[in-house]
Parts: sequence; structure tokens; C-alpha cells
Amino acid sequence: MTVFHVCLFILLTLFDHSFGQLVVNVKNKGGDVEREKIEANTTSDSVRLEFMSKDGTLVTQFIDYKSNIQIFRIYVPWEEERGIVQSKPQVLCFVTKFGKNEFISADAMSKLRQKNPTAVRTPEEDRGLERHTLNLLVTLDKASVLSPHLYNICHDAVDSTYAKETDIKLITKALNKDTEKVMTALKNTELEKHTRCKDTSDIAKPCFCQYHLCIEWYPCGLKYCRGKDSTGKVVNYRCGIKTCRRCLSFEHYARQKMFCLWDDL
Ligand SMILES: *[C@@H]1O[C@H](CO)[C@@H](O)[C@H](O)[C@H]1NC(C)=O
Repeated sequence: MTVFHVCLFILLTLFDHSFGQLVVNVKNKGGDVEREKIEANTTSDSVRLEFMSKDGTLVTQFIDYKSNIQIFRIYVPWEEERGIVQSKPQVLCFVTKFGKNEFISADAMSKLRQKNPTAVRTPEEDRGLERHTLNLLVTLDKASVLSPHLYNICHDAVDSTYAKETDIKLITKALNKDTEKVMTALKNTELEKHTRCKDTSDIAKPCFCQYHLCIEWYPCGLKYCRGKDSTGKVVNYRCGIKTCRRCLSFEHYARQKMFCLWDDL
């Protein structure tokens, strides 16, 4: 314990509450600086990462470690020049399986503090692009079978919360959940039967939509150092974090092309 504490003070600083928040300035590939807020809650064993892009899109990644699930929620502002007047932004929620090496634990995250909060950070590793084809629509009022947090986070995305069948099956199996019960919260959108939204001219027609986002900086792993503890025994201890960048592409059903206006390239 002592070694661990001493060490955290070298690269990071220890924060003594179960709830921690980190605000980092991150430079994206376009050269703009984004402010990212990352908070961990060790009571619920979850992490929330949030940032707003220059165009006003608000992206939230929520990891529920207990349920093996991560949620990407996106508030997309309407583009006024399209002539569609809407007061509320469009909301999308993408639910995928959380893989062990995708983020550090909520516990490690809650202990993370930076020495220089005004520094502009760039990640050490680029993990590239992941493609997710989400063929299921989640019925939010039954979504607690997947994660107790899902409804709270996605309640503004009643008709636009999507999940991936292969992921759901893996999670259900790993957590020993009743597959049949879980499947009652999910509807197949028969994604493969739809045309890409960019090739659809009728704005009212359903189509196959694609949404792309990048998370420019996140703690993706721990670094270990060797040292001696108070009794002189050689031990490995956590002495820092490894940082990564990742991009994600989500393919999903749009009930009308007007809900996928960004996919026009
Ligand atoms: C952390 O999670 C617990 C359990 O879900 C919740 O009661 C608490 O309000 C959360 N803390 C914060 C600061 O959000």
C-alpha cells in the first residue's frame, strides 16, 4: 500500500474519495483542443467520459463494469440549413460489450489526478477504427436487464438506442443471465434489408445509417514499475497510465432518413 501511494504521487496524484473527476485538454487530429471530463464512481463501478465537439455534438461514453457494458450516447444538433426546425437535438445511444483492455478500472480512474491541469494532451497509442454493426433496437423500459444505468442515460433516445446481437449473447452468457428475458428488451431491425441512408432520396424512408466518432484521449491501461516495499521485498506497482485514441463507426437502423442527415457523403 505504501509503495502504491508514494508512486502515484510521482506521475499522478492520489485523490482520497471514492468519486473522482478529471478534466483534460486534448488535441484532436484536426488540431482543435477539446475539453474532456472523465469521472469514476467506485460505488456503482462505473466511468463516464464526456466531451463536446466544435460542431456542438455532445458525446458521452459510460462504462458499467458490473454489467460488462459500455454505452455511447450522442446528442447531435440539427443543422439549420437543412430546413428542418427542431428544438431538441437528436439523441443516439449505442450499446456494446465492454472489453477488459478498453479502459482502466473505475478504481484506478478514481485515483487519477494530473499535475498540470492546463497541459494539452496527446495520446501515446492510436488504436484505430472499430466498426460495430448494431442490428437490435433496445426497448428502454425493459433495458434494466442489460444494465441498471441504461434507462437513465438513454431515456432521450427512446426510438434510437441500438445494440449488437453478438455482443448481447456474449454478455448474457458471461454473466449467466436468462437469454430469453434479455431478448424481450430487444427488437431485430433487419438492418441488412435496408439501403444506406446516403443512397436513399426519400427523407421519410427508413434506411441503414452510419455514425462515426473519435475519442481522442483516454486511459487505456496501467503502467507498472518495480520497486521495494517497506520490508525490502521487490514488488511491481502501478506507477502511471497508458493513453490511447480510438475511433468508432456505428452502423444502425434509422426509422427515417431525416434522422441520419450526417451520413450524406
Ligand atoms: C455513485 O453511484 C451510486 C450508486 O449508483 C449513487 O448512489 C451515487 O449518487 C453516485 N455518485 C455520484 C457522485 O454520482
